[in-house]
Amino acid sequence: MAPLNYLFLILLAFNPFQAADTSHTVSSPAGNHTITFELADGRPYYSVIRNTETVIDRSALGFELENETDLAGPFEIEYTESTTFDNTWTQVWGEKREIRNHYNELKVGLKEPGGENRELIIVFRSFDDGIGFRYEFPAQDNLKAFNIMDELTEFNLTGNHMAWWIGAYQWNRFEYLTNETPLSEADTVHTPLTMKTDDGLYLSIHEAALVDYSTMTLERTEGNRLKANLMPWYDGIRVRTEAPSVTPWRTIQIAENPGDLITSYLILNLNEPNKLEDTSWIEPGKYVGIWWEMHLDKSTWGPGPRHGATTENTKRYIDFAAEHGFDHVLVEGWNKGWDENWYESGAVFSFTEPMDDFDLDYLANYALEKGVRLMGHHETSATIEHYESQVEDGFELYNDLGVRAVKTGYVGHGQEIFWTNEEGNKHYEWHHGQHMVNHHQDIVELAADYKIMLNVHEGVKDTGLRRTWPNLMTREVARGQEYNAWGENQGNPLDHVLYIPFTRLLAGPFDYTPGIVDLTFEEYRPDNRVNHTLAKELALYVVIYSPLQMAADLPENYEERPEPFQFIKDVPADWDDTRVLNAEIGNFITIVRKDRNSDDWYLGSLTNEEARSFEINLDFLDNGKQYVAEIYRDSADADWESNPYGFVTEEKEIATGDNLVLELAPGGGQAIRFRVVEN
Ligand code: NOJ
Repeated sequence: MAPLNYLFLILLAFNPFQAADTSHTVSSPAGNHTITFELADGRPYYSVIRNTETVIDRSALGFELENETDLAGPFEIEYTESTTFDNTWTQVWGEKREIRNHYNELKVGLKEPGGENRELIIVFRSFDDGIGFRYEFPAQDNLKAFNIMDELTEFNLTGNHMAWWIGAYQWNRFEYLTNETPLSEADTVHTPLTMKTDDGLYLSIHEAALVDYSTMTLERTEGNRLKANLMPWYDGIRVRTEAPSVTPWRTIQIAENPGDLITSYLILNLNEPNKLEDTSWIEPGKYVGIWWEMHLDKSTWGPGPRHGATTENTKRYIDFAAEHGFDHVLVEGWNKGWDENWYESGAVFSFTEPMDDFDLDYLANYALEKGVRLMGHHETSATIEHYESQVEDGFELYNDLGVRAVKTGYVGHGQEIFWTNEEGNKHYEWHHGQHMVNHHQDIVELAADYKIMLNVHEGVKDTGLRRTWPNLMTREVARGQEYNAWGENQGNPLDHVLYIPFTRLLAGPFDYTPGIVDLTFEEYRPDNRVNHTLAKELALYVVIYSPLQMAADLPENYEERPEPFQFIKDVPADWDDTRVLNAEIGNFITIVRKDRNSDDWYLGSLTNEEARSFEINLDFLDNGKQYVAEIYRDSADADWESNPYGFVTEEKEIATGDNLVLELAPGGGQAIRFRVVEN
C-alpha cells in the first residue's frame, strides 16, 4: 500500500488546481473524532476517524445539477474557518432538560478556479458523540435558482457491518419491521440506519434539520459504500432550491455501546434554537381517545349504528379522562367525510363540520369544564390540496374551542400524493420528498400561530425540528400499536420494540400508543393480540419517548385492570434526565428517566423472547433521598405467549446505591416508579 499512497501524493502535488493546503481536519472537544476534509484533483472528500479507527473512509461530496455542470469540483479552497462552540440549552420539553452543545467546527469555503467561479461551503462539526456536516450555497452571480439532480455525498464504511434498517421507496412509507442483516444485504434504506462494526462500535447515520429539501435515503452503490439518495419529485429532480440556501445536516452518531446512541443529542444540537417566543401553551401530556375501539372494529369511524365519535361516547371518555387525570381526549371519526371512500380521496373530508351525532361545541366545553381538552383529528388521506384549503379554518375552530393538540394523518400509498400545476395536470409525489417536507413545515408554522401542538401520523421522519418548533410534539412514522389490532401474522412481533429504540427513536419521539392491558382482545379480533406480557406493555411508557403519550386501551379495560392502570396514570410524559442502564439491539433494554416535575424516577425494561435477570445499581437516584419502588413486574410463571397476564405489583423501600434484581419473563418486561418518600 505504501508505494501507492506515495504515488497518489505525488500526483496531487502536480495537480494544477491544487491549492497549497488541500487537507484540513477538525477534532471533537475530547479528541475522539477527527474529520478530515481534502481536495483530490480539486474534488472534495471527507473521512472520519474515531481515536485511531477509521469509521468513514474517503467519501465523495458534491452535487449534480440540472442543466449546469456538476458542483463537485474541481475546486480551490478559498478559506477555512475553525471555531469552537460550547453552550447548554434548555429543552421546552423532552427526554432531558439541559442539553450541552459542544463541538469544534471547520468551515471550508470552496470556489471553482475557472469557468463560472461558483462557490460552495461545507461545514463540518465534530462532537464527542459523533459528527455532522452540511453544504451551504452562498448567494452568488452564477448560481441562483437551481435544481439538484443528485447529492453525491458518500458514507464509505470500513466493513460489512451488521445493520438495522428498513427499505425506502416502499408503498407503506416507514411502516415496516426492522431488518437485521450485514450491510451487504441492505438495499436503499431509510435513516436512521444503525450499524455495529466487527470491533463493537455502533454507528447511526441520519440527518438533522430537514427543511425545504428532500429526505435522504441511503443507497449501497458498491461494497460498503453508501451514497445519499434523495427522494425525488415527480419529474426526477431531487431538490429545487435557490442560493442562498443550506442542506440538512448529514449526521453520524458514534458510540461504544448502543445505549449511548439513545442519549446522544447530536441531532437536536444541529437544529436551530426555538423560534417560538411564547411556549407557555406547549405542554407535554397524556391522552385517551376514541381510537382503539375503531382499530378493534368495536365501532366505526363512519356514521351509523356503530359510530364511535358520538356525543354520548365522547362524554364517557371525557369523564374517564377527568377522573383519572388525562389531559386530552382524542376523537377520530368526528368530522364529515368518513363514510365516503376516504382511502381513495381525502377530498371528502370537512375539517370544520362535525357529524350529526357529534356535538362539537358542547363537548369541547364539557371537556374544559372538567379540566380536560379534546384532541383534534385531521385525517387528510394525503389529499394535500384539499387539506391546505381548509386547514387554517380547522385550526382556528379548534383554537376557539380550547383544543391544544391535533393529530394529523396522511394515510395514502407511497408516491401517490398529488398536486395540480397551472395547466391543471396532476403530479404525484412521495410522502417524504421536498414537496411534503415543505407542506409539513407550513402546517407546523400555521399550527404555532393557532397555539396548536402536533402529533403527525404518516408524515416525514423526524430530524430534530422539535427544537426549533416545539409545538411539533410527536409523530408516528413507524409501525405502531395499531398493527397489533389488525396486522398480518398477529401484529408486531415481540422484538419490534427492541429495535425501535436504536433506530426510529434516535430520530425523535414516537406516538406508538402503548398501554393495551387487554392484550388478547378475543371478543373483537381473536386472530390478533399484543405479543408482550402486561409488564412489558407498561415498560414501553418509559422506553418509547413521546411528549404526547396515549393510554390506548378502552376505558372499560382499564377499569377492569386498575393495578397496571395505576402505572399508566402515574408515568410522566416530560423528563428531566434519561439514562440507559443496559442495552443490546433487538434483545433487551433498560432505561431510567427522571420526572421533570418531581424527584421521582421511572424505569422501563424490555426483553425479547428470552427470559432475563438484571442486577441494577440504583446510583442514579438522588443522593440522600429515600424512595419507595413501586414495581410492576412479570410473575415467575409469566410468558408472553402462554401467560401474558402473569403480573405482580409490589413495593420496596430503596435508597441511592442499592441494588435491585429485575426478573423478566420471555417476551416480558418491568416498569418501576421510584417515588420519593418525604421524611
Ligand atoms: C392511521 C393512523 O396511524 C391511525 O392512528 C389512525 O387511527 C388512522 N390512520 C385513521 O386516521
